[in-house]
Amino acid sequence: MSSVQDPNEAVGLGNVTFAREELERRRKSPVLVSGDMVRERIEKQQGKGIVHLIDPKLGFNHRAIRLWINYPGSGEEAWEGWNLLGHRHLIDAVIYIVQGHGYSIIDGNRYDWGPGDFMCVPTFAWHRHVNTEDVPVIYIASTSTPYSMSLGVSIHEDERYPEYCVFAQKGEDAQKTLIPGGTEAPTVPGSQSVAAFRGDLSLEGRLYEEQVVYAVDEERRRRLGRVLVKGSDVKFGQTRMGKMAYIVDQRLGFNVRVMSTVLAEIEPGHHSGAHRHLYEEVNYILSGEGYSVIDDRTYHWKAGDALSIPVFAWHQYFNTGKERVRILSHSSRAAMENVGLQVTQQGEEAD
Ligand SMILES: [Fe+2]
Ligand SMILES: [Fe+2]
Repeated sequence: MSSVQDPNEAVGLGNVTFAREELERRRKSPVLVSGDMVRERIEKQQGKGIVHLIDPKLGFNHRAIRLWINYPGSGEEAWEGWNLLGHRHLIDAVIYIVQGHGYSIIDGNRYDWGPGDFMCVPTFAWHRHVNTEDVPVIYIASTSTPYSMSLGVSIHEDERYPEYCVFAQKGEDAQKTLIPGGTEAPTVPGSQSVAAFRGDLSLEGRLYEEQVVYAVDEERRRRLGRVLVKGSDVKFGQTRMGKMAYIVDQRLGFNVRVMSTVLAEIEPGHHSGAHRHLYEEVNYILSGEGYSVIDDRTYHWKAGDALSIPVFAWHQYFNTGKERVRILSHSSRAAMENVGLQVTQQGEEAD
């Protein structure tokens, strides 16, 4: 049995020095991820597999979201082994299809996709992906796995490894519920919160009933949430940061609790606005070239590179090439809104 440390020794003045240490961690965190490194890695992996771009395990000072790129291969070998359910996890996940065509079965529904499409997989929905062509699929994914890990709920279940399913359920219910622990939970008549109340409940009784029925209500919200965004439906609008398209956002009908996704565009010779915010942001450069000023440092980038923007660092983007710059940007803005901490401050505006 491991012994418990002396509390004063263990905690010390930690919370007093935390702010200063946190600023140091942010400043030391890597920012630019080279697309050339990704290409080298993928070549070494015979053109297949995952390359992690931004992740706390790679030394980034990130706590909520991560970014990776997947080259699952083509034809039969891609996503081998899933027959029915696929896998599921207690995280928000947003996938952007770079190349290839196929479909995904998410919570029993089929979604067809191609290059430029997005999918927002509802939390704990069984999902699997199928490549329908010989062209290899490439997709970029961002998930809230670090956030779930810090909460102690980063559960990943896969139909190929039932021995590791901690919320395993037997029978049909396993395919139907999006509630961790599914069949163990009592069923609620009509799945309506109010319908679950019996008789005259005290305030405390009612509050507790709402707590018991929460998972059922949340499951319904997950199922009502949007999943697929076709690239052809993406619309850009002018903002003080420049041209932006809101893709996945809890205000747009997606049941995301942590992640938000936007696309940004900058025309040749122009720059974005400058802003800073109290949430994490990761960028993937989809096209063009230029540089970013992040606090007092400058980072040059081109298509295929990724950027990790430290929390509350000022950042602004400049297009120095001949092509339009397009940036895929994921953030933990939803999480910060849901805990009441989201702050965005605007500096210089886009030209
Ligand atoms: Fe997944
Ligand atoms: Fe930002």
